[in-house]
Amino acid sequence: MTLVAQITDMHIRPSGKKAYGVVDTEAMLRAAVSALLAESRLPDLVIASGDLTDCGLVEEYELLRDILQPLPMPVYLIPGNHDRRENLRLVFGGDGYLPMNGEFLHYTVEDQPLRLVALDTVVPGKGHGEMDAARLAWLDARLGEQPDRPTFIFMHHPPFPTGLQHMDSINCRNSPAMAEVVRRHPNIERVACGHHHRSIQIRWAGTIGSVAPSVAHQVLLDLQPHEDALFKMEPPGYHLHLWQPESGVITHTSFIGQFAGPYPFLLDPDYPAFDDKESAPLAHANR
Ligand SMILES: [Fe+2]
Ligand SMILES: [Fe+2]
Repeated sequence: MTLVAQITDMHIRPSGKKAYGVVDTEAMLRAAVSALLAESRLPDLVIASGDLTDCGLVEEYELLRDILQPLPMPVYLIPGNHDRRENLRLVFGGDGYLPMNGEFLHYTVEDQPLRLVALDTVVPGKGHGEMDAARLAWLDARLGEQPDRPTFIFMHHPPFPTGLQHMDSINCRNSPAMAEVVRRHPNIERVACGHHHRSIQIRWAGTIGSVAPSVAHQVLLDLQPHEDALFKMEPPGYHLHLWQPESGVITHTSFIGQFAGPYPFLLDPDYPAFDDKESAPLAHANR
């Protein structure tokens, strides 16, 4: 069994500098870390699927490190279009999992029953991502190493459409070629992404594609064709991916914030209830 928490699109700016004049991304990530620590079952590891910072500044990565520091489990980072590989390497390279040579920051995590393959889709200076021939060859080679092991791919830019037109225009390019590679490996449990700042699921390339909500601001849910990029302060959250051998990966959305409850399922004695002792024992107890 492996429980993976996926946080994404933190867009950390230097302390006190709100993103777009609105979003206190530092406070929101600190709240996400508190929420992870309060989960009924502590995740075995945390993955952060890109747009870790808003501008890729060393100062922002140092603040990110400080915010993530209370997490006792391993935390794995990949870059998004708002990140800079060289500064990410500078601040987090010492953690040992990021490759320190070569162009791309992709790697595998091998010490859990669920194997993780982390992809770097970044095209420096651009909003869109890409899985070009070199990156696809790397992915294909890694997948070929362990064809029977349950495998979880995570990447920043979704290689599949989401119906959010302005975001789909900055998706991962060369996705049909990636789909060919993915389709050849039925052991891939899921392709988990960020970038779109919403919880989204799709059947894609013989597996499931998903996008996790941002721990900060959400992209406006607008399925009409339009070019505007707008965001909204809907409840932030993250995905919890539970892998168990008998079921594969099960994904839950966990919202960050203070909400009323939990409450027991007590029924109103003056309200009709189903007469089923097994399914409604509490109702009977309260008659
Ligand atoms: Fe983002
Ligand atoms: Fe992004």
